[in-house]
Amino acid sequence: MTTFRAELDVDRVRTHFDFARSGRIVTNNAATTQPPRQLLDLYRSLVPSYDNVHRGQSTASLRTTALFEESYDTIAGWLNAPSRRTIATYRNATEAHNAVMYSLLTEFRDGDNVVTTMMEHNSNLVPWYALCREILPRFGVRVELRIARFDHESGELDLGHLDSLVDSRTKLVCCTGASNFLGTKPPLRSVREIADSSGYLQPTGDRRSLLLVDAAPAGSTCRTWMSTICRSLSTSSWRRSAWACCTRRNNCWPDPCRSSTAGT
Ligand SMILES: Cc1ncc(COP(=O)(O)O)c(C=O)c1O
Repeated sequence: MTTFRAELDVDRVRTHFDFARSGRIVTNNAATTQPPRQLLDLYRSLVPSYDNVHRGQSTASLRTTALFEESYDTIAGWLNAPSRRTIATYRNATEAHNAVMYSLLTEFRDGDNVVTTMMEHNSNLVPWYALCREILPRFGVRVELRIARFDHESGELDLGHLDSLVDSRTKLVCCTGASNFLGTKPPLRSVREIADSSGYLQPTGDRRSLLLVDAAPAGSTCRTWMSTICRSLSTSSWRRSAWACCTRRNNCWPDPCRSSTAGT
């Protein structure tokens, strides 16, 4: 097994961001993340020559389309993805989770289950709640939502509980790469093993559960994450945050007829 370990040079990373000059510390790396200067420069340089992607024959449109297509190769290379065909881009993590949910919608069979964790951000919980409790029941399909606990002392995912919830009817396991309110990172390699050994028969013929990892807050170390290296973050004040988050969750189940959105 190859172990990939990348040290994050925070000072070097900060030189790419304008906000850092003000001394501000930004911890939110999901949709509200600060763009690096290179991205702002790229945006400014693209705007004057921008035209529709895949919908025009003008020189500007063809150029923009070529750049758009090229970006998939760049992203796939950066992530070490097996192919550009494995990359899909969305505006934010919430939209991506919902897209996964809707793309799997018709694949669920009566008696299946989805396993997620109590460590999730709303955006990786609400879509599965909506699927199991609101959407599929309308079509007469019963799919159970199972939620794995975390250890209240350490803030770590209770792997034993997760393992006990996953069975041969678990189509999908959803797990955060790093919990935004506990500050802990589940051992994704072990989660992967649990999902792999479920025996669920996928339409492709594979016998394993799909695994969705919410890597939103792990974005800055995404390559490291892709190699499933998990290092613990600070666990300070996780108890208070966990409580606040659980309270918020209880009050915010969405209207299933509207697309779900989750605050940070
Ligand atoms: C763990 C986690 N997942 C998902 C999200 C939602 O991300 P986005 O705002 O990109 O939809 C956040 C936002 O903070 C988060 O912390």
